[in-house]
Amino acid sequence: MRARAACCAGLLALAVATTVVGRGVQAAAPAAGAPALLPDGGNAHPVHLLLPPRRPLSAVARLGRKLFFYEGLSGSGRMSCASCHDPANAYAPANSLPVQFGGGRLRTPGVRAVPSLRYLYREQNFSIGPDNEENETVTLRQLVARGLRAPRVRKTAGDTVASGANLVPQGGLFWDGRVDTLQQQAAGPLFNPMEMDGGSLARVARRLRASPYARRFAALFGAGVLREPKLLVSEALFCLARFQIEDPSFHPFSSKYDAWLQGKARFTPRQARGYLVFNDPGKGDCAACHLDRPGADGRPPLFTDTQYEALGVPRNMAIPANHDPRYFDLGLCGPYRSDLARQTRYCGMFRTPSLRNVATRHVFFHNGVYHSLLQVLQFYDWRDTRPWRIYPVRNGRVDRYDDLPPKLRGNVDRVDPPLNRKPGEPPAMSRRDMRDVVAFLRTLNDGWRPHDCGGQAGR
Ligand code: HEC
Ligand code: HEC
Repeated sequence: MRARAACCAGLLALAVATTVVGRGVQAAAPAAGAPALLPDGGNAHPVHLLLPPRRPLSAVARLGRKLFFYEGLSGSGRMSCASCHDPANAYAPANSLPVQFGGGRLRTPGVRAVPSLRYLYREQNFSIGPDNEENETVTLRQLVARGLRAPRVRKTAGDTVASGANLVPQGGLFWDGRVDTLQQQAAGPLFNPMEMDGGSLARVARRLRASPYARRFAALFGAGVLREPKLLVSEALFCLARFQIEDPSFHPFSSKYDAWLQGKARFTPRQARGYLVFNDPGKGDCAACHLDRPGADGRPPLFTDTQYEALGVPRNMAIPANHDPRYFDLGLCGPYRSDLARQTRYCGMFRTPSLRNVATRHVFFHNGVYHSLLQVLQFYDWRDTRPWRIYPVRNGRVDRYDDLPPKLRGNVDRVDPPLNRKPGEPPAMSRRDMRDVVAFLRTLNDGWRPHDCGGQAGR
C-alpha cells in the first residue's frame, strides 16, 4: 500500500514537471536526429523491435548451461563461470571487489573488473576500420596501416555517421578485444591461472571425463570424443558458447528503455531529463559512443559502438598488480594481447562496454576504480575541468591520466565531448544533469515490470 502511494505521488510529480521536460526537449531540438521525447515522457516514434528469437535450448546449449555452473573443471574444484558471472547480477559479480580472486586456492587476484556477459551475442570480430565485412580478407597489419592514415573524427551523439567512418579499432571480446568468438573466449578463464586455473588441456579433459556429463558428451558428439582430449575440451567450449548465445537470460531486452522504445512506457521527468542530457552533444554526449537508437532494421540498441577509446581513468591502487609502478594495463597494446604492442597510438584503449544493466554493477571501468555511477559521471564531467578531483595531487601538481606512462598520455581522448573541455572551462554537466543521467541509466536494467502507475501508458 505504501509503495503504491509513493508511486502515485510520482505520477503527480510527472504532471507538474511536464513543462520542465517540455523546455528540455526544445533545448535539445537543434541537434540532428534529436531524441523523440514527448512532453509526457512517452516516445513520439515508437518502433517495432527485432528481438532475438525465443526457442527451447538445443541439447548442446543445455549441456553448456550445466558446464557454466560446474565447479569441477577448475583447479580449486570450487570455481565455475558463475562464480564471477552471477546470473542473478546480470552475469557480473555480486560483490563489490574491483577484481575477483581465482587460482588453485582462490587467493590469486585478477587484474581487470569482470564484465557482464549480457548482450554480447551480436559482437563482431575484432577489426580496425569502418566496415567489418570489407575487412575480412585484410590482415590486422594492413588495417593498422590504414588506421594510421585516417584522420581522427570527433564523435557526437548528433552525428554518428562521422563516427562510423572513423578508422578505429572495434569489435572483439574482453576489455582489449583479444579474442573474437565466445567459444575461443571460454578457453581464457578456464586455463587462466588467475581465474579457473584448469591446468593443461589433458587435465581439463580428464576432469570432463570424470564429470557427471561424460555420457552427455558421448551421446552428443560420439563416444570417440572422450578419447580425444583436444576435441573434448573444444566441444565443451562450444557448449558454453551456445549456452550464452541461445539462452534468453543473456539478452532479455526487458528493460524499461526497451518498453519505452516500443511506446509501452513513459519516462519519469527525471529519467526524461537524463535521457536528453545523455543525447545532448553540449552536455553528456554519451550516446556518441554508447549508442541508444534502434538500427534501421529494428535491432535494439546495445549502448555501445564496440569501439576502443583511451579515457584515461585513474589508476586503481586496490588492484594488487598496480602496486608495481612499472606495471601498466595498456588495453589494446598489452600486456594481455601482444599483436598490437608496437602500435603505441592504441595504448590505453579499452572497449566501450554496453550500458545495459550498468546500474546493477558494483564497480566501473576496466580497472573497477569507481563504485558508483555518480562517480563515473563526475569523471566524465571533471576529468579535464577539475582534474584535482579525479587524479592524485603530488607536490602540488595534479598527476593527470596517472594510469598511463607519461609518454603515452597523449593518447587520451580529448576530442569527443564531454571530454573536450580545457582546464578552467565550466564542466559540461551540472550536478543535477549528472543525477538525471544516473536516473536514466537505471531504465536500462532488465526485468522492468509495467505497473498501473509510474509512467506506464497502456499495457
Ligand atoms: C575469476 C573470475 C572469472 C571466472 C571464473 C570467469 N571469468 Fe569470464 N571474465 C572475467 C574477467 C576478469 C573478464 C575480463 C577480462 C579481460 O577483459 O581481460 C572476463 C571476461 C569474460 C567474457 C568477455 C566479456 C566481454 O565483455 O568481452 C566472457 C564471454 C566470459 N568472461 C565468459 C566466461 C566463461 C564462459 C567462464 C567459464 C568458463 C568464465 N568467464 C569464468 C572473470 C572471470
Ligand atoms: C568517446 C566515447 C565515450 C563517450 C562519449 C562516453 N563513454 Fe562511457 N565508456 C567509454 C569507454 C571506452 C569505456 C570503458 C573505458 C575503460 O574502462 O577504460 C566507458 C565506460 C563507461 C562506464 C563503465 C561501464 C562498466 O561496465 O564499467 C559507464 C557507466 C559509462 N561509460 C557511462 C557513460 C556516460 C554516462 C557517458 C556520458 C556522460 C559516457 N559514458 C560517455 C566510451 C565513452
